[in-house]
Amino acid sequence: MPASEAFRAALNYLPRVALAHLPTPVEPLPNLTKAIGGPALYIKRDDLTGLATGGNKTRKLEYLMAQALNEGADTVLTAGSTQSNHARQTAAAAARCGLACHLVLYAPGGVAPAVFNGNLLLDHLLGATIHWTEERAPYAAGLARVEAEVRAAGGVPYTVPYGGSNAYGVVAYAAAFLELAEQMAAEPPFDAVVFATSSGATQAGLALGAQLAGLERTTAIYGISVDQPRDVLAPRISALMRDGAALVSLDALDLPPVLVDDRYRGGGYGVLGEPEREAIRLLARHEGILVDPVYTGRALAGLIDRIRRGEFGRDQRVLFWHTGGAAALFAYADGLV
Ligand SMILES: Cc1ncc(COP(=O)(O)O)c(C=O)c1O
Repeated sequence: MPASEAFRAALNYLPRVALAHLPTPVEPLPNLTKAIGGPALYIKRDDLTGLATGGNKTRKLEYLMAQALNEGADTVLTAGSTQSNHARQTAAAAARCGLACHLVLYAPGGVAPAVFNGNLLLDHLLGATIHWTEERAPYAAGLARVEAEVRAAGGVPYTVPYGGSNAYGVVAYAAAFLELAEQMAAEPPFDAVVFATSSGATQAGLALGAQLAGLERTTAIYGISVDQPRDVLAPRISALMRDGAALVSLDALDLPPVLVDDRYRGGGYGVLGEPEREAIRLLARHEGILVDPVYTGRALAGLIDRIRRGEFGRDQRVLFWHTGGAAALFAYADGLV
């Protein structure tokens, strides 16, 4: 049986809660392509997956929330930064599934910000209980503390890993790549797929999916790191890919190398710079589509720079995989006007 069929068969056995609007559209970006002089650019709209403004975590949460429900949880926990898209999507998924949600969020000094804005405002509206911390990713101590508190109060907690990045998150994005391959079956395959990478399961899944589709030598899967250096992130993504393949009993699969580009980390995680500002404006003004300052604006800035450096030819076809995050724009208003 071809690996993609074995994958689909195994996937059918994994519990899943339908949360995402799928398939997400693939659209050409003719105006941006013209403005920057090619290659032919396309966009995969995972900013339209749903869950209180969408994003890449919705696909992962379909499998993760199913695990929570199967384990009899009444509460889900996760963690992230103040403007975490993952936290907001987890809060929305919990509301949809009738579960309580606790979020461990980083803020300077571990103190709640004076203004609740962007994703944080949405966390509040979605009914999440927020615990502030000074701890940084992956927030193990904060999550363990809140998990113990939920148990002590008689609750049954399920902890969604940081970024939704475990084997379930990986298979969700392997399936997403197969969705893309099916949508584009009548057209030449893309030369590259470019996107923001951070906790790693999106990239691990897309690379696994390209392998399953037999496109691993045709379509380069380029993650633009928003925070971690390549030598830290690439081995983590390789390990996630192995975990994902094992979950669907494809342990023997010959897995592809991981392509992480860490040249665009600018001033560090969440620091808005001129490249992100330009990318946000270019996509908004030429195509009417919003990217965010932290992830997708940074990844798009990286893609634009690579094009300007001549790393892609005019005759090539490149897909920007939009992973969401525009809710954070409002929290960066001062730096964007
Ligand atoms: C908008 C957005 N894009 C990309 C990513 C990175 O995805 P991953 O954590 O799977 O690497 C995130 C993660 O938080 C995100 O919120």
